[in-house]
Amino acid sequence: MANYLADNQTRFLDELLDWLRIPSVSADAKFHADVLRAADYLKTRLEEAGVQNVEICPTAGNPIVYGDYLQAGPDAKTVLVYGHYDVQPADPYELWTSPPFEPVIKDEKIYARGACDDKGQVYMHVKAFEMMMRDGQGGVPCNIKFMFEGEEEIGSNNLDIFVKANKEKLQADVILISDTGMLANDVPSIEVGLRGLSYHEVTVTGPNRDLHSGLYGGAVQNPINALCEMIASLHDENGHITIPGFYDNVDELSADERAEMAKAPFSEEEFQKSIGLPASYGEKGYSSMERTSIRPTLDVNGIWGGYTGEGAKTVIASQAHAKISMRLVPHQTSAEITALFQKHFASIAPAGVTVSVHPHHGGEPVVTPTDSVAYKAAADAMETTFGKRPVPTRGGGSIPIVAMFKSELGLDTVLLGFGLDSDAIHSPNEHFGVFNFLKGIETIPHFYRNYAAAE
Ligand code: BES
Ligand code: MN
Ligand code: MN
Repeated sequence: MANYLADNQTRFLDELLDWLRIPSVSADAKFHADVLRAADYLKTRLEEAGVQNVEICPTAGNPIVYGDYLQAGPDAKTVLVYGHYDVQPADPYELWTSPPFEPVIKDEKIYARGACDDKGQVYMHVKAFEMMMRDGQGGVPCNIKFMFEGEEEIGSNNLDIFVKANKEKLQADVILISDTGMLANDVPSIEVGLRGLSYHEVTVTGPNRDLHSGLYGGAVQNPINALCEMIASLHDENGHITIPGFYDNVDELSADERAEMAKAPFSEEEFQKSIGLPASYGEKGYSSMERTSIRPTLDVNGIWGGYTGEGAKTVIASQAHAKISMRLVPHQTSAEITALFQKHFASIAPAGVTVSVHPHHGGEPVVTPTDSVAYKAAADAMETTFGKRPVPTRGGGSIPIVAMFKSELGLDTVLLGFGLDSDAIHSPNEHFGVFNFLKGIETIPHFYRNYAAAE
């Protein structure tokens, strides 16, 4: 197997680079034709690898690419592999050192939008499958269903519908996803939790038009001032979120569980240095690792209003806007938190303005089992290829579809991710290590063999 990978790695990389050239940005309608081209490219590569029944399933939005290989037989286990071929917008383009859709390999890393999230990681699965088909090491030991969507970065609304309508077709024993990260290339880890999400756009409205700030200033509640005060009040001096009831259902980890978590190698100093922070920040009583995984958060993602152009314009804006998100942990639900946020945010509006809260897509938190046959197969696979037992970690990001797979299909997920926090996903200069890409391709077949062999 090492031979097949070594002999073909240049081609594997070239194919991935070709795919990364297609700007499959789901958030922006002007890329719609590219999204379709990216789906088509994936379909062709799956077929070439030997996947059968490959189809582009239309939805009300971007298509789902489905294909399967069921030749392992009716008694073999079935794995449903999920990933996404859509990518985040690349803005701001001027901060990229090379253009986001002209991938290059620099310092052993692939630089492009989607290199890690998630095209690079999806492509590991395509090439791992090809390798099992062709390397003469015993073939494909499990039945595999591949399902790749084009709307993960905008909330997976149509996948939701697709899954509910195709429960029979998607029947499997476990879900396998490579769309998360690990601690470091020499510290393999497997994420066993994801946070949920409640996301809102808020608008604060004051006077019925923009006003001269000299003629009216002082006698008018300024919507931008008001919005800032409201946002500032959402955290107290200890970094706790002040929304009444927000923490009511939060699953508090025991001292033992927290001690276990603290064993994972993590350097506060390195963490701060890696993103240029002058000091640590967060909820009192918790470590940075806990703050970004087992604790819920509230953050402003964007804020705008008034005059932001060149020079000075003296104005009191009629409206101010912000996008506010909350990351949720077990056992908070997005419906519960959305309702609490809407009620609270409206209630803290000062006199002189009105507030509207518009919720966007949400998602539920998950914790995946570490005592399952599939988790053990993944941990053993990583131990084989990294030479070290992976540690389980709780992740801070969200993949809302994972909770849906559990509720609709009754299936647990294994998050076999190979990214690093430093890969700059969603940021300028996103990249994915060539080491990580190849390690993924090497590890995935071990997962199937371990899983097939387990009781
Ligand atoms: N792959 C990420 C989520 C992720 C990254 C989880 C790293 C764990 C580690 C996914 O594509 C993503 O960006 N999810 C969004 C939510 C989605 C609803 C837009 C997120 O976490 O912000
Ligand atoms: Mn992703
Ligand atoms: Mn993403």
